[in-house]
Amino acid sequence: MIQVGVITASDKGSRGEREDLSGPTLATLVQEIGGQVVEYVVLPDDQVLLEDTMRLWADERSLDLILTTGGTGFSMRDVTPEATLAVADRMVPGIAEVMRMESLKVTPKAMLSRAIAVLRKRTLIINMPGSPKAVRECFAAIAPALPHGIQILKGEASECATTINYRD
Ligand code: MTE
Repeated sequence: MIQVGVITASDKGSRGEREDLSGPTLATLVQEIGGQVVEYVVLPDDQVLLEDTMRLWADERSLDLILTTGGTGFSMRDVTPEATLAVADRMVPGIAEVMRMESLKVTPKAMLSRAIAVLRKRTLIINMPGSPKAVRECFAAIAPALPHGIQILKGEASECATTINYRD
């Protein structure tokens, strides 16, 4: 079972002024890759709070995967990528590249998301845009490779050729 944490970054959501639909959408989607959401929080667009939560879930809870939704755009309050970069040990550019590449087939606005993906210790952290639609589109793009990447990160797989390939 892949242990997943979901962070929704939304000022309005954290104040209870907007229902978070993207977090619950992710909770359903991760089941497709054998994931289970064990931590979920709606936070304001506050870089310190976002960083602290990612550090806690990576270092103390040892989650395999942290998915963030929201706060990746151009608003001056959008700081999710900056918070993610601040806690990163290693970058995973390909994940964000594929999300944007596939999303661009649906909307040119995909280029406006500054989402990144990083590794902190044995935790993979991936930013996604804030709408349930965007979350579905981005997750579909990366889901085929996630279990293998997480297996390698956890030290449960070392040979790419001997593990399950979804597309090959
Ligand atoms: N990506 C996908 N797949 N689908 C979308 O509808 N919306 C875009 C973009 N990425 C979108 C998407 C829009 S309109 C914005 S402003 C940016 O994500 C940033 O969204 P965020 O600020 O909610 O993170």
